[in-house]
Amino acid sequence: MPGRTPAVEVFPDIGALSVAAAKRLAAIVRPAVLRRKRFVLGLAGGHTPRPLYEQLAGAEREEVQWRRVVVIFGDERCVAPTDPASNYAMAAGALLAHVPIPQRNVLRIAGELDPEDAAERYEGRLRALFPDPDAPIFDVLLLGVGADGHTASLFPGSPALLERERWVVPVQAPRGVMPRDRITLTLPVLERAREVWFLASGADKRPVIAEILGGTAAGRRLPASLVHGRERTVWWLDRQAAPER
Ligand code: 6PG
Repeated sequence: MPGRTPAVEVFPDIGALSVAAAKRLAAIVRPAVLRRKRFVLGLAGGHTPRPLYEQLAGAEREEVQWRRVVVIFGDERCVAPTDPASNYAMAAGALLAHVPIPQRNVLRIAGELDPEDAAERYEGRLRALFPDPDAPIFDVLLLGVGADGHTASLFPGSPALLERERWVVPVQAPRGVMPRDRITLTLPVLERAREVWFLASGADKRPVIAEILGGTAAGRRLPASLVHGRERTVWWLDRQAAPER
């Protein structure tokens, strides 16, 4: 599968990375909408994607047909949507509140509900929207990576990594990673992306990215190593996060 060999793009800093990624994203929306009438974008949480979301919010109106964009979240913390720790709150503040995307196209994970209930509800919405069991779900899935190699809220050693039936599950992050209670998409869903774009910035990510891109035995076992786009996998890195050549 062509997406198994990742492409790596390195930029001087997170600002340059975000400008380039926003331009690339805007450029692929139109052909996708022409072909499939919609563009499904998976959003990552954490801090790294914020400048990219802000760039996207600033894109010229006609560049991105927001009325044809569907937004899905890769994971969410079990907090209210107004909580500063909420991935939805970050995306809404940086992007969703600033673009004409129909509210019905923003599939928010209800972090305020009981985690099992929220996971089941989200899975129901996804299955209704994507009834074909094999077709790709995401046109582009944005993901971050933790210094421990987690992605979305799939952490190393988590039983959720073995889940092959459920699309959405409640999980607990390791001790010390707050908030601990989260809801995450599982690998079978994360793998149903035409393109997967990992975004990483900062020297603290360099060791784990070196393991992952270096294909070491330890690196190959990390959750972020297990997600590939069917067509493309791209690592968008700033210079600090990029492994030394
Ligand atoms: C989350 C994210 C998580 C994040 C990484 C990197 O809910 O925290 O889904 O996978 O992308 O932890 O986070 P930073 O961008 O803040 O380094």
